[in-house]
Amino acid sequence: MTPAALSGLDLLATAVVVLDAGLAVRYMNPAAENLFEMSSKNVAGQPLKELFSETAVLQAAVEYARTHNCSYTEHDLELGVNGRARLHLSCTVTPVEFSGRDGRGEQLLLEFRHIEQQLRIAREERMLDQSQANRELIRNLAHEIKNPLGGIRGAAQLLDRELERPALHEYTQVIMKEADRLQSLMDRLLTPHRLPQPGQLNLHEVLERVRSLILAEHPRGIVFRRDYDTSLPLLKGDKEQLIQAALNIVRNAAQAIMGGGGTGEILLRTRAVRQVTLARRRYRIALAVEITDTGPGIPPELQERVFHPLVSGREGGSGLGLTLAQTFVTQHRGIIHFESAPGNTTFTILLPVEEAGNG
Ligand SMILES: Nc1ncnc2c1ncn2[C@@H]1O[C@H](COP(=O)(O)OP(=O)(O)OP(=O)(O)O)[C@@H](O)[C@H]1O
Ligand SMILES: [Mg+2]
Repeated sequence: MTPAALSGLDLLATAVVVLDAGLAVRYMNPAAENLFEMSSKNVAGQPLKELFSETAVLQAAVEYARTHNCSYTEHDLELGVNGRARLHLSCTVTPVEFSGRDGRGEQLLLEFRHIEQQLRIAREERMLDQSQANRELIRNLAHEIKNPLGGIRGAAQLLDRELERPALHEYTQVIMKEADRLQSLMDRLLTPHRLPQPGQLNLHEVLERVRSLILAEHPRGIVFRRDYDTSLPLLKGDKEQLIQAALNIVRNAAQAIMGGGGTGEILLRTRAVRQVTLARRRYRIALAVEITDTGPGIPPELQERVFHPLVSGREGGSGLGLTLAQTFVTQHRGIIHFESAPGNTTFTILLPVEEAGNG
């Protein structure tokens, strides 16, 4: 790799180490300096095996890539660095040829990733694909159900007028009432498809609206705490949609608290996150909203599926709140994730503000 190519690696979020043909370090990009807490200048020229402890697996991967002249990924690598706790990484080794002023040669490119980070990205990608498929399915299904539903309700209404025995009206009323309930469920399923109307908005205004709505729904039992980073930039987005998304999550938190002990706390926290990948794109800045509740937590058997439509663990729940929240956030190119244990459940909404440039 030429010096120009190396400087291109400076911008990568992935930790990259370049080795020369003798397996000594030639260069480390800033992400790798960060990961290993070393400076590229200080370690240049050092043999790979002296850089880390427990390098047998890594050396085997390097050897394999070199002898087969192909890219090789070790998915389960533990590296000791300077007496620190061992790092759990994956590493892709790629042989690269270069020809430059200093002749031709062979080098090895090592890309390191935290395993947790990789799992998270894979999980998010899976969720994204799944939620797109879900949306499509819901939309078609809702359309299919709405039409006959109109017919059923109309027929029940006609029948209602013709019935002579008053006791029978009860039945037609049930048909109409249930048809109306299904109708409004279908309408909820179809709403996310209105196009977002983006404007400049302040995330804290969104959260304050949600807070006052929830306090109105639950005047007792819930204490809100706020930890807002007031220096956050404005966001471009559809205010109503974001209110709805946050509301659905905060409402779940409130309902979990009320269904648990009947009293608890909801913490609303905002902060800026730098250099993140959301839904396969990289951003310089994203805004994070964390909604933490002290309720009983999401039952483990439900955790994998809470974003799926019609999945509910609550008596009378329609199981659409989180599906809709996810749809709205995805429309803003953001993501939602959560961690849940009894007494401590946090949903995090990440919304991108500024795309990372190419340079
Ligand atoms: N903060 C939370 N604490 C505990 N359980 C939660 C929490 N948030 C969500 N859940 C669980 O996830 C399920 C799905 O939530 P979702 O909002 O999608 O549907 P719902 O609340 O059941 O119905 P809807 O929101 O459509 O009225 C809930 O029924 C509940 O069991
Ligand atoms: Mg809900």
